[in-house]
Amino acid sequence: MKPEDAEAVYHTASNALFESPEGEEMLRRRTPEEVKNRIERHKHILRYDPAGAWVAEDDGRVSGVAISLVRERVWVLSLFAVDAAHRGTGLGKHLLERALGYAEGCDGAMIASSQHPAAMRSYARAGFDLHPTLTASGPVRRESVPAGLTIRDGEARDLELAAEVDRAIRGAAHGPDLEQMIETGCRLLVADGPSGRGYAAERDGSPAVLAATRPEVAQDLLWACLERTPPGEKAEVDWISGRQNWAVPVVLEAGLSLSPFGPICTRGDLGPLTPYLPSGPFL
Ligand SMILES: CC(C)(COP(=O)(O)OP(=O)(O)OC[C@H]1O[C@@H](n2cnc3c(N)ncnc32)[C@H](O)[C@@H]1OP(=O)(O)O)[C@@H](O)C(=O)NCCC(=O)NCCS
Repeated sequence: MKPEDAEAVYHTASNALFESPEGEEMLRRRTPEEVKNRIERHKHILRYDPAGAWVAEDDGRVSGVAISLVRERVWVLSLFAVDAAHRGTGLGKHLLERALGYAEGCDGAMIASSQHPAAMRSYARAGFDLHPTLTASGPVRRESVPAGLTIRDGEARDLELAAEVDRAIRGAAHGPDLEQMIETGCRLLVADGPSGRGYAAERDGSPAVLAATRPEVAQDLLWACLERTPPGEKAEVDWISGRQNWAVPVVLEAGLSLSPFGPICTRGDLGPLTPYLPSGPFL
């Protein structure tokens, strides 16, 4: 993949990932800024990991893509899609093999999977363990937010705290990816007290990523995210696997509804992976 493919990759992958009528409607509702941020995200990964991203072309059009990244000793699959006309022919397998080649030498690997049967099959057959997850969404019941949360806004110097928590919980820091999330509108929230440390990147009340040294600290961070949901809008808490049961009482108390979501797929040595709400594109 080259930087000039980023826009075509965005369109091919978005159409592949949001095929249902509701998905198409969601795509239509994306603001130009959201689209731009996503394209920038592909370019950002390409800048750091040019050898981890692959596209397939047919007649000059992008028909498939696999984008992966390596941070410290952990590999992450950020994007994987084949357009409908080219599926079921082994193209996905071929792209995934290329991206997995980039994982060589890493201790651990992670993928936030869609619920597409071919995706889950591909990851399981590549040696990943599948951890089913739930997503929670809805308007936030403000009166449920606990009083006296000791969470503060993060500053540049807190990136090191986030990196240390990440290494302890998921085996590697997010490095430039957390900075990219902040540059594209996420707010950094930090817990740093006697009961433990942690951070969240919050966007419109939803945690884009959250990790902490203790479940109680993670719960406070999650509340601090939800509290920031703009009035009239819905919060979304994704990737609640069985390891993240600490998050369930919070989302229920906040009035959100649970529904099934894709599995988190893991391979190798990563750390406890809890308390942790991973980022879909950066895990
Ligand atoms: C997931 C995806 C990229 C796979 O691409 P593809 O080109 O169709 O995949 P392949 O033809 O290489 O098939 C991969 C495996 O899935 C199987 N498979 C293909 N289509 C399938 C289907 N509809 N149901 C179940 N299994 C299927 C294949 O048999 C193959 O398994 P095998 O190697 O054991 O024989 C593609 O289906 C897609 O873009 N889906 C929508 C977007 C998405 O969900 N992406 C994943 C994001 S995490």
